[in-house]
Amino acid sequence: MWERLWIDVHLATDAHGTGQPGGDDFGIVRNGAIAANQGKIVWVGRQADLPAAPETLASEVISGQGGWMTAGLVDPHTHLVFGGDRSAEFAERLQGVSYQDIARRGGGILSTVRATREASEAELLALTLKRARRLITNGVTTVEIKSGYGLTLDDELKQLRVARAVSEHLPIRVHTTFLGAHALPPEFAGRQGDYVTHLCETMLPAVADAGLADSVDAFCETIAFQPAEVERIFEAARRWNLPLRLHADQMSDLGGGHLAARWGALSADHVEYASEASVAAMAESGTVAMLLPGAFYFVREHQLPPVALFRKHGVPMGLATDCNPGTSPVLSPTGVMNMACTLFRLTPGETLAGHTHIAARALGLDGAVGRLAPGMAADMALWNVSGPHELSYWIGGVVPVTRIFGGVPDGS
Ligand code: NIG
Ligand code: FE
Repeated sequence: MWERLWIDVHLATDAHGTGQPGGDDFGIVRNGAIAANQGKIVWVGRQADLPAAPETLASEVISGQGGWMTAGLVDPHTHLVFGGDRSAEFAERLQGVSYQDIARRGGGILSTVRATREASEAELLALTLKRARRLITNGVTTVEIKSGYGLTLDDELKQLRVARAVSEHLPIRVHTTFLGAHALPPEFAGRQGDYVTHLCETMLPAVADAGLADSVDAFCETIAFQPAEVERIFEAARRWNLPLRLHADQMSDLGGGHLAARWGALSADHVEYASEASVAAMAESGTVAMLLPGAFYFVREHQLPPVALFRKHGVPMGLATDCNPGTSPVLSPTGVMNMACTLFRLTPGETLAGHTHIAARALGLDGAVGRLAPGMAADMALWNVSGPHELSYWIGGVVPVTRIFGGVPDGS
């Protein structure tokens, strides 16, 4: 006997888009049914094809009341653990001061570093849980959370412990990422090479030893870390068998997409300035192009990511909120899906794929979450919409009527 069976639902089992009109395929099953047992999806199909009467198959039979069931949303790039906010800098940027200029004078990421260092672990946890609850309300069942606002070993460990604790307090899967190479901490001013050495020889081994990181990231940019420094960090991460990802080609083309691909990174993120050589290398290595339209919008970037090239070369495009206080204060994946359509011209099918199975692939969770199929985690979201294309139609604000985590509906 299954634990739960949903009937009277339409299913969007597996979203894809070709970028062409009519090229979306959501894997639709109308008048469907879906069953969960012991955290996994065990049956998916047309209700008429159920092997017996619903109440003989499951302990609990739930009517989806004609709603649409999708895989739970995956948010594969966030900086959810931070103190303070950057609304004053936002106001300055509106007056024409650039993000890079604010960073160069010690604001930007470093101002959040100060606030994060000052916050106690309990304070950070409370702030982070509040943000994670918003993601949950918005349909997220798996989230990646980076460090990178501590930049001392203790403060990075503090951030990563908070990130890990999220899944102990809330029904959500958490993938943690060590982003010690986010900015140069003030203690190392003028000694960037020494910081990279410290990161590789002391911080990363301690983080890995504590089992607090599921992957390693770096910010490869003129105002942050240079490609050769990133390579040193990737080499150290590889010694600890940690998967890689990279903030790449966000504000300039430093060949970050190519670098990420050469190292077999799971994803190269932002990638507005990625060249065709980078795109081709990413296709070769299977590196996901993680598009972050919230950051593009909030910093008023003009350079569009090379979406046509990603399609041409068959590079999977993922989507994430990139929730952070400096460039992307957003906690709505469906809002991000709308921005991806409006700003980047992705199709609705591409955006749902980007926030489900492609996002999962970027976390090394391909085949585990992100689709409605037997054997996958029973992480799902039930939406009161006319069809899956409506998810990216609203400018945020479309929230699931029920979110299901590991087969258990929220609130039950
Ligand atoms: O993903 N690009 C670097 N990191 C963040 C911004 C962090 C910040 O400004 O606090 C991003 O956009
Ligand atoms: Fe980021």
